[in-house]
Formats: sequence, C-alpha cells, structure tokens
Amino acid sequence: MDGKGGKLYYRGYSIEELAEFSTFEEVTYLLWYGELPSKGELREFSRKLAKNRELPKELLDVLEMMPKHAHPMGVLRTAVSFLGNFDDEPVKTPEDVYEKGISLVAKIPGIVASLYRLRMGLELVKPREDLSHAGNFLYMMFGKEPPKSWERAMDVALILYAEHELNASTFAVMEVGSTLSDYYSAVVAGIGALKGILHGGAVEEAVRQFLEIGDPERVEEWFFNALKNKRRIMGAGHRVYKTYDPRAKIFKKYARMIGDKRMYEIAERLETLVQKHLSKKGVNINVDYWSGIIFYAMGIPIEFYTTIFLMGRISGWTAHLAEYISNNKLIRPRLQYIGEIGKRYIPIERR
Ligand SMILES: CC(C)(COP(=O)(O)OP(=O)(O)OC[C@H]1O[C@@H](n2cnc3c(N)ncnc32)[C@H](O)[C@@H]1OP(=O)(O)O)[C@@H](O)C(=O)NCCC(=O)NCCS
Repeated sequence: MDGKGGKLYYRGYSIEELAEFSTFEEVTYLLWYGELPSKGELREFSRKLAKNRELPKELLDVLEMMPKHAHPMGVLRTAVSFLGNFDDEPVKTPEDVYEKGISLVAKIPGIVASLYRLRMGLELVKPREDLSHAGNFLYMMFGKEPPKSWERAMDVALILYAEHELNASTFAVMEVGSTLSDYYSAVVAGIGALKGILHGGAVEEAVRQFLEIGDPERVEEWFFNALKNKRRIMGAGHRVYKTYDPRAKIFKKYARMIGDKRMYEIAERLETLVQKHLSKKGVNINVDYWSGIIFYAMGIPIEFYTTIFLMGRISGWTAHLAEYISNNKLIRPRLQYIGEIGKRYIPIERR
C-alpha cells in the first residue's frame, strides 16, 4: 500500500490490472500462495470452493432462529461462530489455515444469500458448480443467473475488497490468531471490527447519505451543513491514503455503468466538493463511496452491503493469518498508565 502515491498492489500486481483481468478465485489463490495459479491449479482451487459451498442444515436452522431485524453482519458473526464448533482445532500451520479458509470463503456468500431469502420468505437456492464465486452469490440471492455485467461488477468488488494490509479487521484477526486460538474465533473478531461504520460499515452509511441528500440540487447545501455540524462524509477519509483511494476510482467506473443515474449524480457532485474542500487536509474519496451504488442498483438491501465487503476481505484475513502464524509471536501491546500508584485501600463505609 502506498498511501501518498495512492497505489495498491497484491503480491506485486497492481490493483488496476487485477480488476481488469483477474477473478476473485484467482486473486484469493494469489494472496494465499504468492503466485497466480496455472490453469490446473485454478481448476483444482475452484473445484474445492464448489465442494465446500453447501451449508449444513443445522446452520440454516440457526439463520432461521435469528431475530428478523438483526444486522446481517451480526448474523454472520453468529453463523461463523456456530460453524467453528464443528471444526475448532487450533491452527498451527499455514496449511491448517488454508484448509479452514477455503471452507469458510466458500460458504459466506451462501450464508448471506440464505439470510436474505429467509427474510424475504423465499425458498433457498442451492449453489451451482458451473458459476463463478461472484455469480453464485447473485444466483443464490436472486434465484436466477445474473446479467454478465452484474457478475463482473460483483467479481471486481470482491477483488477490490480482498486485501488491504493491516486495516482494523485484519489486525483483529491476527491478534486473535496470534494466541493460537482457532481460525473461526479469529474470523469472528474480524467480523466485529469490519462491522463498525468507521471501517466496512461505511459502505452502508455512504448510500444512506446519498438517499438523505435525495436531489442533486441539494448536495451543496447538505455538504456545507454537514461540515458546519462536524458530520463526517461517509466514504471519505482514510488513515493511510492521503490521496484518492485507487480502489474507489475503479468502483466509480462500475457505479457509472450500473448505478442509478440520480444517485450517481448526487455522489459525483458531493465528490467534487469533498475533493475541493477536504482533500487539502488529506480527506479524499475512499473504497466505500461508490461501491454501495452498484449494490443498490442490483436491488440488494443496504444492510447487506458490509457482508459483501466481508466476502472479499476474508481472503486477505486468511492470507495474513497464515503468514503470521508461520512465525508466530503473541501480539501483546502495552499501554501507558497515567495516574497515581501506591494508593491505600479505603473500606467502603469510609469513602
Ligand atoms: C476513516 C477515518 C476514521 C480515518 O480517520 P483518521 O485517520 O483518524 O482521521 P481524523 O479523524 O484524525 O481526521 C483528520 C481530520 O480530517 C477530518 N475528517 C476525516 N474524515 C472526514 C470525513 N469523512 N468527513 C469530513 N471530515 C473528515 C476530521 O474532522 C479531522 O479534521 P480536523 O483536523 O479539522 O479536526 C475517517 O476519515 C472517517 O471517519 N471517515 C468516514 C468513515 C469512512 O468512510 N470509513 C471508511 C474508511 S475506508
């Protein structure tokens, strides 16, 4: 990650080339094993994903029991935790991590799609072996093969979300993994971190903000009011990038192709104001700004957007966890205590 130059590479390959030519399956292989797969390696990897997609009946029962208004990220956290009870061996080697990783990477889209269909009162749809990871997700969600343009946009979204160095959720995964706990516990920690609106949850908030603005003519008034009231523009600002997020540039292209015209225009006008007034203090458009516009156009409910982020990011979590535990050291930061020491205990009746 080059925060000043606004560049991102996965294992040396630029994100622009991967988004143009690659697939989520290939990128996951690259992140885990360090090289792009050969035809045979990719076939074998895709076959393993297909073999692992089906969800156990017990998990579907759990999904059905969840409160109808629970946030889908909360439900996913429970679902992953539940699956961990069937497979809670500690992970000691990268191979252990990848074996569990492929099972979970394969299942997340089915969990999200099943939750959506249960909530809509629709029959669940089983995955198909001939569809891609992204295509299967949309197929299981909507019960019909997605248009090619949607499948590609979703594939690119998963590629762009897959990896981002030591972001908050990846750190949470590594922290738990460093205790030599099990893979699922580490992923549950990551889900908790990704859910927050300062991290992955911003993708949902960005779309809510465009809906709140509602009209391209209101953008300017809304923006200056937001600044006056110290409100944050969602989908803007980043701890590392101090330039336009390179992933957002790619998402913008797909938002223009697929997104609702009015929402796109609102976002574009707001983007101009952010770049004009906030970029001087390092606040620029980030990955979560445009992506929700694509999912909104597909008819995916807003509260599901962070689960799509997770569907991609779990690849990066798994890669970092495997790398870290191959030369593991317990992560244990220190804090500095500020205050008196050596105070005398006072019995409660004398305080
Ligand atoms: C991501 C984020 C938490 C990073 O914050 P950070 O590195 O801790 O930066 P700070 O909170 O210290 O902000 C630095 C300055 O930029 C401003 N700023 C940061 N993000 C802003 C935003 N989204 N909108 C308006 N102002 C913003 C802060 O108000 C602060 O201004 P000040 O110096 O005048 O007080 C922050 O930019 C944010 O809240 N963004 C919105 C949520 C979001 O899109 N998250 C997804 C990240 S990929």
